[in-house]
Amino acid sequence: MESKTFEDLIETNKMYQLVTERLEVVDPDAQNLYARFNMEAELMELILDFYNQEDDHIASQKLHKFSPEQVLAYLQASHKLYLSKKLPEIEQTMVHIFNKYGQTHALLTTLTVFFNDYKNRLIEHIRSEEKDFFPFIKKLIAAEKGELTTEQTMDLMKSSSLEDYTDNHGPIEDDLKNVSVIIQDYSKNQETPLPYRVFLNQVEIFEMELRKHAIIEDHVLVPMARELEKILRERLNPAV
Ligand SMILES: [Fe+2]
Ligand SMILES: [Fe+2]
Repeated sequence: MESKTFEDLIETNKMYQLVTERLEVVDPDAQNLYARFNMEAELMELILDFYNQEDDHIASQKLHKFSPEQVLAYLQASHKLYLSKKLPEIEQTMVHIFNKYGQTHALLTTLTVFFNDYKNRLIEHIRSEEKDFFPFIKKLIAAEKGELTTEQTMDLMKSSSLEDYTDNHGPIEDDLKNVSVIIQDYSKNQETPLPYRVFLNQVEIFEMELRKHAIIEDHVLVPMARELEKILRERLNPAV
C-alpha cells in the first residue's frame, strides 16, 4: 500500500514536470510565468488532472471553462517544448544507442530512418498549425472582441480554415507505436538491451503527451472556434 502511494507520487511528479516544463521552455527567466503566459495555476491543475485521467473526453470537458487564448497559449508552449526539448532529447538517446550498438545491431538503421522520418512529419504538423490554424483562431478571438472591421470579420467567416483543419488533423502520435513494434519484434527471443528500453520509455511518454495534446486541439480548441464562429455569424446576421 505504501509503495503504491510512493509510486503514485513519482508518477504525479513526472506528470507535473511534463505539464510545467513547457513554461520554462517558453521563457526560463520569467519571474511570474503563470501570469505572463496567462496560465493560471487552476488551468495547470486541470491539465495535470487530464494527464492522469483515464477518460480523456470527460477530462477535456473541464478545460472548456478557460478562454481560447489560454488554451492556445498552452498549446503553443507545448509546440515549443516538443521542438526545442522533447525531440532533441529523444534524438540524443538515439545517437547514444547508435554510437554504442551501431556496428552490431542492424535494427538501429531501421529505427533511425523511422525516427528521422517521423520527426520531419511532426515538425511539418506543428508548422502547419502555427502557420494556418492558430493564426485563424487568433483572428476569431480578435473579431469576437470587436477588433476587426465588419468586412474583415466577413472575410474571416468565409475562410474554410476550421474545416480544413478538422479534415486533415491526423493522429500523428499513432505512428510512434511503430517504435515499440520495431523494438519488440527485434527483441522477441532476447532481453531488450537497456538503452532501447530507455529510448522506448521516452518515446512512449512522448506518444502519450502528443495524444493528450491532440485531444486538447480537437475537443477543446476546435469547439471553442466553432462557438466563436457562431457568435460572429449571429452578430453579422442577427435575423438568421
Ligand atoms: Fe499541435
Ligand atoms: Fe495537432
